[in-house]
Amino acid sequence: MTQMIRFFLNGHRQDVQIRPDTTVLEWLRGEARLKGTKEGCAEGDCGACSVLIGTDMDAIAQADTASGATQSNKDDGAFRYRAVNSCILTMGQLDGKALVTVEGLKTTQLHPVQAAMAENGSSQCGFCTPGIVMSLSGLAADCASTGTKADDQLIHDTLAGNLCRCTGYRPIVEAARKVIAEGGAPVAQLLSGSLQDIRPQADFSHNGSTYHQPQTLKELVEMRAQYPQSLLLAGGTDLGVALADYHSDWDEVISTAHVRELREIREDATSFRFGAAVTWAEVLKAIGNHYPSLTVLLRRFGSVQIRNQGTIGGNIGTASPIGDGAPALIGLGAEIELAGSNGSRALPLEDFFLDYRKTELRSDEVIASVTLPKLTVIQNYRVYKISKRYDQDISTVCGAFRVTRENGIITDARIAFGGMAAIPKRVKSTEQTLIGKALDEATVAACKQAIATELNPLSDWRGSAEYRLIVAQNLIERFSHDLAGEVVEVMAL
Ligand SMILES: Cc1cc2nc3c(=O)[nH]c(=O)nc-3n(C[C@H](O)[C@H](O)[C@H](O)COP(=O)(O)OP(=O)(O)OC[C@H]3O[C@@H](n4cnc5c(N)ncnc54)[C@H](O)[C@@H]3O)c2cc1C
Ligand code: FES
Ligand code: FES
Repeated sequence: MTQMIRFFLNGHRQDVQIRPDTTVLEWLRGEARLKGTKEGCAEGDCGACSVLIGTDMDAIAQADTASGATQSNKDDGAFRYRAVNSCILTMGQLDGKALVTVEGLKTTQLHPVQAAMAENGSSQCGFCTPGIVMSLSGLAADCASTGTKADDQLIHDTLAGNLCRCTGYRPIVEAARKVIAEGGAPVAQLLSGSLQDIRPQADFSHNGSTYHQPQTLKELVEMRAQYPQSLLLAGGTDLGVALADYHSDWDEVISTAHVRELREIREDATSFRFGAAVTWAEVLKAIGNHYPSLTVLLRRFGSVQIRNQGTIGGNIGTASPIGDGAPALIGLGAEIELAGSNGSRALPLEDFFLDYRKTELRSDEVIASVTLPKLTVIQNYRVYKISKRYDQDISTVCGAFRVTRENGIITDARIAFGGMAAIPKRVKSTEQTLIGKALDEATVAACKQAIATELNPLSDWRGSAEYRLIVAQNLIERFSHDLAGEVVEVMAL
């Protein structure tokens, strides 16, 4: 087994011998002596450590064709660069990729984002600035390759994962507007070789840490059985925080990032099916305008950096009682597929969660896919995230509602909450109070009462049990108002 991790750093090929569970930030600022990438929070929140990761689009297109996926993850151009947080990204995750840091953006001239930031007086401290430049460069590269013009909302979304506490965001947003108005800007990396030559390796190991990269679901399931104690890693936005915070060791890792079936997106007339290793950014793009309320929620899910790396399967696998994915998807009626040595089984998402961080997943199994039914013309769906901050915050309560109505009468209802129990919870008794009724004041009152008996929320520093219950009750009322006026939540800018 090789000891080398192979990738390009600012265009230059690297064959690095290092424990694969070392964070990219630690390597950059240590061994690579590239100190432009800063460490702020070290847990994915502040964006000071943002870097760009380039993926070979041709390889993605080939994999899509081979698997028969109905939606391709391929964009125009040879590479797609996306901003990620290097403090929670491990070196193993770089294998086969092109890494760009703030030192590598500049060619003979400043990158247009750097120039616009300088000309516009957009920063003062130099600590957050490199991360902001990297995030905006990711956006500018997307605009240049797709020919789209980012609006202010997208610029704000892009900056939600970058904290600046001194200059204020106005001059930063103005710099971004300038670059976007000029058509964006590609990331000009001349690689000293081809990504084709450093295709992701099956495995590598150094100093007691081994990293496996299966390519197919069959290989993944076989490895789960072979290494039952191994850590299953998707994007690492949950696991990477624990790694960085507690300096834990990952001795045996199986990555899902290159498993073809887990990267697939399929769409047909009645559903979307996402492989478990599809990122939230890819989910957001794939669903288009089909679930406007879910789109609003996903634009508030972490930050661009987190959505570029975090996956739909990882969010379910982590089984957090305060995660956003599970309640939102249970409310929609999602089903998941688990794959193991004895084949696959499907179950409603709500049945996956058994108790606090306990799930249906057997030790030899993985989450293979998540299927979301499309809404029919007689269905309405809303999901609401209540958190202390609008962007980049964890939910205190997340509530999702879907009703089917015929002639104004509810014939089917699904309600799910996060932050209201030890697990993401569907409230089936409460749903029953809606059936056969119109969504009027009396029905809402009965529903609020039912929620109080069916839920026993937790108290923590985000909110007391009493507060959470009132919020959950008020959300059903908000849902009824939204449906009466068919108001879709407006993004706060
Ligand atoms: C700054 C920050 C902001 C965040 N904001 C939000 C937010 O707004 N809302 C929210 O819900 N979450 C948020 N998160 C949490 C996290 O980003 C999500 O839960 C994300 O979807 C996790 O996906 P991942 O691929 O990174 O998972 P990983 O960290 O790779 O894995 C998480 C868990 O899932 C397991 N797992 C991964 N893939 C599979 C699989 N195929 N089968 C079985 N188990 C699997 C892993 O073993 C691990 O236990 C945030 C995290 C950070 C650091
Ligand atoms: S150091 Fe704050 S996001 Fe990485
Ligand atoms: S310029 Fe660094 S905190 Fe604002």
